[in-house]
Amino acid sequence: MKARVVIVGSYVQDLAFYVEAFPGPGDCVLAELRPGAGGKGFNQAVAATRAGAPTLFVGAIGQDSAGAHAREFARRNGVQTEFILKKKEPTGAASIAVNHAGQNQIMVALGANLALHVRDLPVRPLAAADVVLCQAESDMKTAAHVLRVARRHGAVTVFNPAPMHPGVDLAILRHVEVLIPNEAEFVSLVNRSPRSGVKNFTVEALHRLAPDRLHTLCRSFNVPIVIVTLGARGCFVSQPDVYARVQAHEVDPVDTAGAGDAFVGGFAAGLVKFNKNIIEAVHFANAVAALAVTQHGTAPAMPTAREIARFLRRRDHA
Ligand code: RIB
Ligand code: NA
Repeated sequence: MKARVVIVGSYVQDLAFYVEAFPGPGDCVLAELRPGAGGKGFNQAVAATRAGAPTLFVGAIGQDSAGAHAREFARRNGVQTEFILKKKEPTGAASIAVNHAGQNQIMVALGANLALHVRDLPVRPLAAADVVLCQAESDMKTAAHVLRVARRHGAVTVFNPAPMHPGVDLAILRHVEVLIPNEAEFVSLVNRSPRSGVKNFTVEALHRLAPDRLHTLCRSFNVPIVIVTLGARGCFVSQPDVYARVQAHEVDPVDTAGAGDAFVGGFAAGLVKFNKNIIEAVHFANAVAALAVTQHGTAPAMPTAREIARFLRRRDHA
């Protein structure tokens, strides 16, 4: 089947430690451990696939048991695996702490993910895709190349600058049609971009900003569409001449790790489902994220198309 969505990104073996409260420096606390499939690229691919979009994941794993688990999990979940490449570096690994409120802290070692190079990329699926998606857990030269090629072939290119780090060169934004940062990533982009005209911007300042001013900041990246995700506060959508605040669904979160990935993967699937209508895709993405935070884990927490449809039906009738 032709992949409508192509995601080039990370696979990471997640070790999630569930604790009452996050440990401070020097602390040792007891936890419950749940290992599982993760990585921002892979989480987004699982979200898009389960949400109903034929999705190809392009990534790299090591020659180890975590890598074998990656392939197995992908296969069981209908994610196409022919471009999950084996490298000599170890499979990426993350230590995730989740506290009683479902908040998370993550440390990630990217390992094999950084060994995915331009020469590894499948040219034809990239050229034929409707939506192409990258994050910042990859070699950033590879990601920039992917988005450049995809855009040249007319795909909607989506970039999720997560996690934000010094290796993310803002020149990549030239190839991006939809930019999806979270609050912290947005703040960092604003501070780093000379065109924003703003320095020492903070998340608190972002929350105080009037919508028209936030829209102006979004426009300063020169990217057609910017969607700032605001956690439980929903998201802000900035398009060339219009902007909108979209509310999130109220749910009781047990684990917010992977919530951003659920949103981004759900958005990609929504673009396919709703013929590239941005606002419809955002509403769909919101439902995917709301459902994902009610489950433990990252990739395993992504909801199916049927669960999303049922959830949206209930909300419409509420
Ligand atoms: O966004 C959540 C993901 O970030 C986790 O699955 C972890 O692997 C880290 O990469
Ligand atoms: Na989750």
